[in-house]
Amino acid sequence: MNTPPNTSSTEFNPNDKTPPNSAGTEIIEVDGENVKSVVDANEYPLGFRACESVENYEFMNQIGTGSYGVVSRARCKKTGDIVALKRIKLPQELLVEGFPTSALREISTLMQMQHPNLVNAHEVVVGSDYNKIFVVMDYMDHTVKDLNEIMKQRFTQAEVKCLLIQLLDGVKYMHDNWVQHRDIKTSNLLLDNHGNLKICDFGLARKYSDPPRAYSPVVVTLYYRAIEILLGEKKYTPAIDMWSVGCVFAELLLKKPLFQGNGELDQIKQIFDVLGLPSESRWEGFQELPNVKKFHFTGSKTNNLHKRFTQQIGMTNNLPILSKLGLDLLERMLEFDPKLRITADEALKHPYFKESPLPKSKVMMPTFPATVHETGHRGHKRKHDEIVQEKAAPENSLFDRELQDLYEQNVNNRDSIF
Ligand SMILES: Nc1ncnc2c1ncn2[C@@H]1O[C@H](COP(=O)(O)OP(=O)(O)O)[C@@H](O)[C@H]1O
Ligand SMILES: [Mg+2]
Repeated sequence: MNTPPNTSSTEFNPNDKTPPNSAGTEIIEVDGENVKSVVDANEYPLGFRACESVENYEFMNQIGTGSYGVVSRARCKKTGDIVALKRIKLPQELLVEGFPTSALREISTLMQMQHPNLVNAHEVVVGSDYNKIFVVMDYMDHTVKDLNEIMKQRFTQAEVKCLLIQLLDGVKYMHDNWVQHRDIKTSNLLLDNHGNLKICDFGLARKYSDPPRAYSPVVVTLYYRAIEILLGEKKYTPAIDMWSVGCVFAELLLKKPLFQGNGELDQIKQIFDVLGLPSESRWEGFQELPNVKKFHFTGSKTNNLHKRFTQQIGMTNNLPILSKLGLDLLERMLEFDPKLRITADEALKHPYFKESPLPKSKVMMPTFPATVHETGHRGHKRKHDEIVQEKAAPENSLFDRELQDLYEQNVNNRDSIF
């Protein structure tokens, strides 16, 4: 049974499995894209201590600018360590009303969540005035998005499994701690040269409650946005993150996003074309969703997801390879009904991860020299051919790499491979 949280608690306790108070004080006013909310003080128990100065770090180059901040590579003057510094965006107009909720949430979540698959934040430092606030994080070499774009070949199934397990471990940790990320996508997944994947960007993350209450509908980048949000469900659950994980899984195999709508309606249409139209029997409550009442949707009568992937290793018609079990896992992540959608915990136990090819170990993952992160210029990316440095024997094509993975795992049973 879910018991209400201890509201007098001031410490974050990662073992606390009680949900945040569902009768909390968040009020959402959707004003175009601007979502304001009244903060529940219990959500930010950390308290800000006196911060060190950003002067302790030497700026090296800018890595990325997103919607919520600017990230730079920097060197700690005391230790020589290379770190990432994220300057939290504090728009003047929001500062008039106090410290913005979005910034508080991001800093608080980053500092509280500690897990090998979440980016590690060390401290918060301040600049020359109070509106210059930076979070100091472990520096990571690449984003999964950049790698997927510059690699000429696709990740193999064994590599995809290695990445997906780490992503699911990170998501499971967040959900176990009552946090929804709400912006899982390949540019928010960081990878280092030791095969470690870490989820970053907690700019939209927030605590959730059980039962869910109404949250902002302006969340999750369109391509990765769960169908229930697109159809107007405001009381969404952490299942929205699992939809995004499904989109990432498919993207790792396809080398491009699975659904690339040029607007919300087009996004819905693309989803229905691939997954088929939902029905009341497949998704209880579907007909009651606000946008289902408003619009008439068309789409395929059948689920065509399998057509995007070949199922046998012998079919080399340029399609990515996904086994039947892999397809089953992907379909469960893209299940229309959020109540039936697979959880991170269930996904980690899926037989796809137990079948051959087994997940590649992190030390065997390919490494890549500096990409955009160190050059600071996206235009400086070189072709995968020139830059990829495989730790294993050089491999020519995806097909060879798949075979190599199979071979490594079936070395005592070669007849079954060839
Ligand atoms: N710890 C890090 N190490 C290396 N690069 C990072 C790190 N954190 C963020 N980045 C880079 O900066 C970009 C923007 O950071 P992110 O936290 O996603 O901010 P935004 O909210 O602006 O999207 C990321 O997509 C990634 O390229
Ligand atoms: Mg981001």
